[in-house]
This record gives sequence, structure tokens and C-alpha cells, in this order.
Amino acid sequence: MSIGIKMREMKDSLKSQTQALHETQLKLATLVQNGLLLASERDRTKLLTHILTEGKRICNADAATMYLRTEQETLRFAVRTKDDALPSFEIPLLDPATGLPNEKYVSIYVAWHNKSVLIDDVYNESRFDLSGTRRFDEESDYRTVSMLTVPLAPRGGEVIGVLQFMNAFDPDTGKVIPFSPQILPFIEALASQSAIALENQNLIDTQESLIDAMIKIIAGAIDAKSPYTGGHCGRVPELALMLAEEACKVTEGPLASFNFNTPEEWREFRIGAWLHDCGKLTTPDFVVDKATKLETIYNRIHEIRMRFEVLLRDAEIARLKAVLAGADPEEAAGRFQQEADALYSEFAFIAECNVGGESMAPQTAEKIRTLAKRTWVRHFDDRLGLSHEESARLAQTPAPALPAVEQLLSDKPHHLVPRPDSKALDPKYNFKMNVPEHLYNLGEIYNLSVGRGTLTEEERFKVSEHIIQTIVMLEELPFPKSLQRVPEYAGTHHETLRGSGYPRKLDRDSLSIPARIMAIADIFEALTAKDRPYKKAKTLSESIRILSTLKHNDHIDGDLFDLFLRSGLHLRYGERYLDSSQMDAVDIFAYVTGEKDERAIAAS
Ligand SMILES: [Fe+2]
Ligand SMILES: [Fe+2]
Repeated sequence: MSIGIKMREMKDSLKSQTQALHETQLKLATLVQNGLLLASERDRTKLLTHILTEGKRICNADAATMYLRTEQETLRFAVRTKDDALPSFEIPLLDPATGLPNEKYVSIYVAWHNKSVLIDDVYNESRFDLSGTRRFDEESDYRTVSMLTVPLAPRGGEVIGVLQFMNAFDPDTGKVIPFSPQILPFIEALASQSAIALENQNLIDTQESLIDAMIKIIAGAIDAKSPYTGGHCGRVPELALMLAEEACKVTEGPLASFNFNTPEEWREFRIGAWLHDCGKLTTPDFVVDKATKLETIYNRIHEIRMRFEVLLRDAEIARLKAVLAGADPEEAAGRFQQEADALYSEFAFIAECNVGGESMAPQTAEKIRTLAKRTWVRHFDDRLGLSHEESARLAQTPAPALPAVEQLLSDKPHHLVPRPDSKALDPKYNFKMNVPEHLYNLGEIYNLSVGRGTLTEEERFKVSEHIIQTIVMLEELPFPKSLQRVPEYAGTHHETLRGSGYPRKLDRDSLSIPARIMAIADIFEALTAKDRPYKKAKTLSESIRILSTLKHNDHIDGDLFDLFLRSGLHLRYGERYLDSSQMDAVDIFAYVTGEKDERAIAAS
């Protein structure tokens, strides 16, 4: 062989080695880049497609399929590079007849053995049953020749699926050739990377579903805790998300810049909405459900009625004693009747006061104080059979000698339940609420004199305190970065644009669009709710009228209120959650800013 030929051969060899090295470099670069992409891709469908497409590119295949292992011990078609629909059947890992590994199928063999298999010619293959592939070829007018099947498994880990590539192409001739064994390390590295990414995503998905399910359980528990809140915690997120969707569509005006750009931002808002009243878990039922003014754990009107019973019997005894002492029986009976009539009427008055109303006249409260002064005689010790806490409160005042003269109604020192230091507001949260001195005031006159509804100032604070608890609970949780705004979304629905809300007296400058959406959703749901035993559900038009007043008083966001009506969301929500009897007509033109003028111009 001449030196010239040798030189040329060396040159050719060097050239092909350089090219192989270049190709290897390219494949390695692809793998590194792929690793980065796999780590950052959060969309599962995109992730699966990406894995398959990259694999197909690396081994120069014509088509590829990914199977994923299911919990039912099968392989399920997950994604294919061909556009046709995925087969719905699954391949069992165990032969149903024998219960042994179904190793006659190449994909199952690879899954069981965590080992790649190269097949040079599908139609001359004797190790595996490839009738399914041949059938597919027949049905789709395709011809599978070479096949590479690789396990999807992290190094040393369990197989979570299988990648299958069909028909390798010679890049120079375009002809179908067997898959090169040299390609195997690259494809296996890709499969291993992909398996880690999929496992990580599975883990994240599982954690997310677990968190979501737990949050829904909390919301369900709050709703189940009291018939007074009904399905509020479940419906508010529905409405809030619907309004947020409408707000995202807006392209003009103050809402145009608002958008949730990623699924994570939507999730953050959804979780905030689901948890918006989670602090209600700490509100005692006897406060939330307080149906009459004298109610604590039970309705104390019965105690007071018993005092009237005692007084009636005292009057009867007085009559009988008078007759025995020689008084005129008729006169004694007349006096008794007069006393009995007074007692019946006074009890009826107090009982009526016990039922909360819209407002109480000042003279009614005065009359309660007057009637309270009537006395009765107590013979029994009122310090027996008490709880430790109750005894401690009573111990502050010396016990009077028995028999003791008692007022019919009284506000006694032991009616005041002190506020523990632990219940003081922590300054780090910047809450701006007036905290009543006492935790509770159980005074009888004090409670019966409640002007509106049934709750005392202390109990109203207790109810409002749920939002403080919501914020404290949520700010204590180590939310990941993607959920950092959950406490804000959950904790601002009682704030107003004019700064009169609670618990922080925030104003328009500090209330984000999602926070404003939450306020509207919370109020509208509460107004229209039909499952509250203490109030009649308002109709659509009544609720919109109230919201409109809140808009004009600068409580809620006017643009969002207008959008709520203009988009027809009030109707869509109403059709879903309201009774047909609540669905009365709403003239949205009467409420929406500018709409009336536009209509007038259009009509002229
Ligand atoms: Fe709330
Ligand atoms: Fe709420």
C-alpha cells in the first residue's frame, strides 16, 4: 500500500472519528440541556412530550411511545409522537392466566428487568410476541422494522415506565436501519434523567393534591361546624375564581393590567379563597350560633322563667298566709291576681327582649333595668356544683348569708369573664381593632339590653376575631414561594377601600385586585346564602342593591362590581347556587357606572 493511500485512509479515519466525537459532544450537550429543561418544566403533558421528542431526536427514530407504570400493575400508553389517539387498553405486568410476569411482551420484559432491548427486525423477532406491533402496522399502513425499548428508571431505582422507539434512520441515506448499540448509553441517560424528573413531579403533584385536599377539609369543617355559616367557605372560592377569570379578560381601564399569569398564581389565589375564614375554627359555637341574647351554651331565659315561677308561688303563699291570718279571702285573691298579671306580663316582656331584633328603643332598655330591680329570695347556696373557672370568678365577691335577697335580673362581677393576656393582639401583625376589656360579659341586664341582634360587644369582637386568627394561622405556615400571598388573599376580605374595615384598616392603596375580589365574593355569598337558619336569603336584586351601596360608600371596588354585573356573573352564579325564587330581575343599567349614559346616547 502506497504512503498516499495510507495517508488518505488515516485522514478518512480521523475525519470519521472527529465526526463521531462531534456527534457525541452534541448528544452530551443535548443531555445537559435536556436535564435543565426537565428540571424546570411544570406542565406534565409538556414534560412527557418533551422526553419522548428528545429521545426520538437523539436516536434518530421515526416514532416513539411512552408507557407509564400504573398502581394497578399495568403499563398505560402515556404519549406517542404519532398524532393518532392513544390506545385505551393497558398491558398487565402479570399474565392474568398464570399470575407470572408477562414477559412475552417486550415492553413488559423491559419493565420487569430494568434492561434495554434492541430489536433489529420486528418481523424476524422470535424472543418476544410482537403481534400487537404488526397489527398496528396493518391498521395504520406502517412498517416497523427496528425497535429500541428502554426502561424509564432512575439509576438504581424502580421502573416507572418504558420508552419505545421505532425505526432508526440513517441520517445520510434516510433508510431504516437497526438502532446502534452506541446510542444506548445516551438514551438510557435520558431515560434516567426523565424518570427522576417524572418522579419529582409526581412527588410535587402528590404533595399539592394532599395540601389541596387538606385545605378543602378545613373549609368543609368550618362549614360543617355551624349551620350559621352553611356552605360559605366552599362557595366563596367558586365566586372569587369566577370574578378573577372575568377580571383577567379585561383589556381596558383600571383592571386591564390585572392578570394571573401562571397556574401557580391561580392556585395561590384559590388556596387563599378556600382558607379565607379558616380562623372561624377557633370561634366558639355558642358565639357564632348565639340565637338569643341570654344564650351562652344554652338559653338562660329558662333560669329567669324559673325565678318568675318562684315569685308567682311566693305571691300564692302570701295570699294563703294572709287568709290564714284572717284577711278577707276575696281581697287577698284580688291582690294575688294583680301580682300574677304583673308577673306574666313582665316575663312576656323580658322573653320578647331576649329575641334579637333590628334595633331596641332606649325606653325598652330602661324598662329592663326597672324590672330587674324586683327581688326574690334564694335559699340555696349558689356556690355549689360549679366548675373551677366559675368558682374562681364567684370567689371575688363574698357569699351573702342565706336566705339571700336576689334581684330578678342582675349584672354581677362573676358575669365578667376576664381577657387572658394571651388573647391580647400581637403588635407584630399591625392589627388595628378595638379589643373589649373583657373576654365575655354574661350579665343578664347587659345581654338583654343588646341593641341590635343578639351579640354583645365582646361577642361581636369574638366573631370579627376570626380574621385575626385566619391571618395568624396562615402567617405561621411555611408556605413555599409560590404560595406567599395566601395570607394576604385570605386575610383582607373584611377590609374596605376607604380604610374602615378590619383587622388592619387597610385602604385602597394597600388592597390588591385579588383582595378586592375576595371582599365582593364574601359579601355577595353571605347576602344570597339560603342555608343560614337565622336569616332569610336575599334576592338577587336586593343583594345587588346592597353591593351597590357598598360601592358608593367606597367599601368595595366599583370597577369589579361593574364587571360582576356587566359580565353577567351575578346571573351565572345565581343560576348555580340560588333558588329560583331569589332570581328576580336586576336592572344592571341602573347600577353600572356610565352604562346609563351610554344607553341614553344609544337610544337617542
Ligand atoms: Fe371572614
Ligand atoms: Fe367569609
